[in-house]
Amino acid sequence: MRVLVTGATGFVGSRLVPTLLDRGHEVVALVRDADGYAPPAGVRVVEGDLLEPDTLSPAFEIDGDPIDAAYYLVHSMDGGPGYEERDRNCATNFVEAASAAGVDRVIYLGGLGEDREELSEHLRSRREVERILSTGGPALTTLRAAIIIGAGSASFEVIHGLASRLPVMTTPKWVDTLCQPIAIDDVVGYLTGVLEAPQTRDDTFEIGGPDVLTYAEILRQTRRQLGHRLWIVRVPVLSPELSAKWLRLVTDVNPYLARSLVEGLRNTVIVEDDRLRDLVPIEQTPFEVAVARAIDRPGRDDPTDEVPIADSGAES
Ligand SMILES: NC(=O)c1ccc[n+]([C@@H]2O[C@H](COP(=O)([O-])OP(=O)(O)OC[C@H]3O[C@@H](n4cnc5c(N)ncnc54)[C@H](OP(=O)(O)O)[C@@H]3O)[C@@H](O)[C@H]2O)c1
Repeated sequence: MRVLVTGATGFVGSRLVPTLLDRGHEVVALVRDADGYAPPAGVRVVEGDLLEPDTLSPAFEIDGDPIDAAYYLVHSMDGGPGYEERDRNCATNFVEAASAAGVDRVIYLGGLGEDREELSEHLRSRREVERILSTGGPALTTLRAAIIIGAGSASFEVIHGLASRLPVMTTPKWVDTLCQPIAIDDVVGYLTGVLEAPQTRDDTFEIGGPDVLTYAEILRQTRRQLGHRLWIVRVPVLSPELSAKWLRLVTDVNPYLARSLVEGLRNTVIVEDDRLRDLVPIEQTPFEVAVARAIDRPGRDDPTDEVPIADSGAES
């Protein structure tokens, strides 16, 4: 198939593109800065910006033939406040261009979280993008995921930063929230699987790994893999709000993005509808294996950088 990948430079997109090529698809990558992107051999690169609709139409064809399917793997949180409006505009411009080009399918990777809970701003914005993408001509397939475990995933890097630099945490509200993280390899497996499973058109699926864990357990297991123990101290007094300044000490992720992600940790994110497991059977990666793969790379911070525990009160 002829496939467009938006967000090709991102954490998910950069892993999806080579897999699509391996599976025999023709790939177009839409990137904002072609000079800063080293595409795998065989990828057609189109420079464009989803906030600039006039730049988009060349990405929707290959040698005059319209593309068959387009992945939407974009968010604007790196740019700081106002991301909701940027994400709304990106999704609107994308769906208009995809509809005009006669694209058959759009595949979107959004966020897990129940609408019945009060979703964080970030998750509400991801849900709004999903709604906008459903208004166009192409059939929409949405996959909703919680934290994706992999090196370079902003949400995993926040977890890794907390786990590696904090020996002790006073109880933030979210340590007991349940989460079902998923390995990046499994996400890529599902993303390519739905492309090749036409019965997944016009549908929304929840994806997760084999383990449902509290965030306390996620932090403990991640820190254990780094060779250390994490003490979570239960105190009756609420600890002070997790500040962007404090987050800057424990994670290298853009502070605004990190803070927005931490705000989302209050939402339970577990799979309640697992129909996709039958439609796209893949072998799920255990959480511990996914973490081991994610932290097994040179240049990682070491827990010896621990920050003073007096500042570790995290309330969000
Ligand atoms: N990581 C997770 O844990 C996680 C969990 C659940 C769902 N997801 C979803 O997975 C998708 C991909 O996330 P990710 O983690 O791969 O994000 P990421 O690494 O931050 O990548 C975001 C991508 O969006 C591109 N982008 C931003 N604004 C753009 C614009 N105006 N025009 C064109 N491209 C633009 C960026 O391009 P530049 O290189 O030019 O900045 C980058 O390639 C998102 O929909 C996210 O909600 C991620």
